[in-house]
Amino acid sequence: MAILVTGGAGYIGSHTCINLLNAGYEIVVVDNFSNSKPEVIERIKQISRKNFLFYQVDLLDEVAVENIFRENDISAVIHFAGFKAVGESVNIPLSYYHNNITSTLILCEIMKKYGVKKMVFSSSATVYGDPEKCPIPENSTLSTTNPYGSTKLMIEQILRDLGRSDHDWSIALLRYFNPIGAHESGLIGEDPHGIPNNLLPYISKVAAGDLPFLNIFGDDYDTKDGTGVRDYIHVVDLSMGHIRALEKILTTKGVEAYNLGTGKGYSVLEVIKAFEKVSGQRIHFKVSSRRPGDIATCYADIRKAKNELNWQASKTIEDMCQDTWNFSINNIKV
Ligand code: UFG
Repeated sequence: MAILVTGGAGYIGSHTCINLLNAGYEIVVVDNFSNSKPEVIERIKQISRKNFLFYQVDLLDEVAVENIFRENDISAVIHFAGFKAVGESVNIPLSYYHNNITSTLILCEIMKKYGVKKMVFSSSATVYGDPEKCPIPENSTLSTTNPYGSTKLMIEQILRDLGRSDHDWSIALLRYFNPIGAHESGLIGEDPHGIPNNLLPYISKVAAGDLPFLNIFGDDYDTKDGTGVRDYIHVVDLSMGHIRALEKILTTKGVEAYNLGTGKGYSVLEVIKAFEKVSGQRIHFKVSSRRPGDIATCYADIRKAKNELNWQASKTIEDMCQDTWNFSINNIKV
């Protein structure tokens, strides 16, 4: 019996593959490398010292996806694959809806056909929109502010409806807060194409001298120092949350959402300070205007994941910055 990992060459997918292999699971990985590189697959094998089957397949290719289910004994799916850039989704919404939603529908149809009714789905805290309160519990009002977020929320809805239609389904909707950091080996991490949109990849490039300074998007928010506050979580902690969620769905039924965060909020200035401390580099910055769509504060209520998945993040903001920097200076980005 194997666990199928879609998007397994991606940032969170690759770290989860390592943890699955370390935990003794057999895995089958599918990725079309639309936002990742083939080297990642080799590095997962190198780090874990284990082998697995890999398919370079686009989930929109129904025939090829069905082939994976025909050729393997799949017991559950961890579904990471999807487009994920907020800004890009505003410019090409149809591509986002088609790619993220159609591929999930195809995957679910085939899972149903082969009697595989267990899924861990990669959702996002973006489904909370501008949250009414922090920490944010899972039963908060859901809304979105961009097409990327809408695809996550729509897929959650599709999976809930699927679970209502057939009670044999067991699905965990994992709402990630802000994943950062990299594997301790420095071999895999986040390596966005071009100029990064997210805070940590950007800071990393400033520290390395590839970009002159960071733009802080607003210092007039109603937060501790005026800059945006987020719940940053180490990608290795986050990937362990998937193992716990998988263990849960393998033994239960129903559809449940879980926040994967640390429950702590750090401001942009605090993250800069932590990064400077571990890297010994000065992070130059300028304060610019607010980024459209940004919210002031976002951090998780982590009690449900702790109580029901027996999972909690353990790494500190310094660990997260250290591993991000380590991956960056390793200069063997993949
Ligand atoms: N920020 C800057 N300068 C930058 C980049 C970011 O000041 O160059 C600030 C933002 O204003 C925000 C914080 O740093 O206050 C974090 O921004 P990110 O872009 O790193 O992350 P977001 O919280 O905006 O979004 C992330 C993911 C989304 C996901 C969301 C879920 O990128 O995919 O978390 O809450 F939907």
